[in-house]
Amino acid sequence: MTRTVYVNGEYLPETEAKVSIFDRGFLMADAVYEVTSVLGGKLIDFQGHTARLQRSLDELQMVSPVTMEELLEIHHQLIEKNDLEEGGIYLQITRGAGPDRDFVWPDPEEVKGGIVLFTFAKKLTEGANLDNGIKVISQEDLRWGRRDIKTTQLLYPSFAKMQAKKAGAADAWLVEDGFVTEGSANNAYIVKDGVIITRQLSNDILHGITRAAILKFAAEAQMKVEERPFTIAEAQEADEAFVTSATGFSQPVVEIDGVAIGDGKPGPVAKRLREIYIAEMPKTAL
Ligand code: PDD
Repeated sequence: MTRTVYVNGEYLPETEAKVSIFDRGFLMADAVYEVTSVLGGKLIDFQGHTARLQRSLDELQMVSPVTMEELLEIHHQLIEKNDLEEGGIYLQITRGAGPDRDFVWPDPEEVKGGIVLFTFAKKLTEGANLDNGIKVISQEDLRWGRRDIKTTQLLYPSFAKMQAKKAGAADAWLVEDGFVTEGSANNAYIVKDGVIITRQLSNDILHGITRAAILKFAAEAQMKVEERPFTIAEAQEADEAFVTSATGFSQPVVEIDGVAIGDGKPGPVAKRLREIYIAEMPKTAL
């Protein structure tokens, strides 16, 4: 199926969508992005994603070419035009295309930001990863120091994921100074003696929108949460491990660096949180 995508003010078939070779997103990864999941044709936690998008833009002194209200309308148009029931929408805003390649940012008054959105259909509520859990390997976290900004500099996470694939695992948990930061494209958690442990928010990790919702639901369900760093050794001794992301919700992790977690099967906490998430989030979907 040819998708209808959105590029700089136009809805076009994906085969006709073009961006300038001078776009700074293309030349320098000078761009921020969001991925919002779609369930039942509606956007999950759109407010959370736009709030983080605005924060990413502000941190990089970037100006969005559209308002957040217009952005919601574009998302809705794309859902409708592509008949999207379940999956997600990828959104990218770049600093735009200057007259030439330049390390100096162009004046936002003169060069308007670029914007691209496209849908993807994907089954989010079921799948082998949920039934069986995933295996992860640890990799040194060699990303830049502002991981709280959701930029398109994704070469290292992609590299880490390829290393995982080569090792027969599905993903990598990134480790800095001996402690897990997060997964290549998700936040990482362990559960020990009923306590959910996940790294606290800082510039070291992306402030996951799913993380915020999952921790809120955990607190409401009287589960104990500790926000602190943990090591791979501690994770290997845990009762359970899991990851969260907009398109994965909460996914069980059953093996870390070849060591089975708990009984090697998906754990009950990740499953319960996933069920709550899927039951509750559609209530506020737009
Ligand atoms: N990734 N940490 C990193 C490094 C991520 O790239 C992501 C999301 C998350 C989870 O954030 P959220 O819950 O807001 O999706 C954590 C997206 C899904 C991606 O790059 O496709």
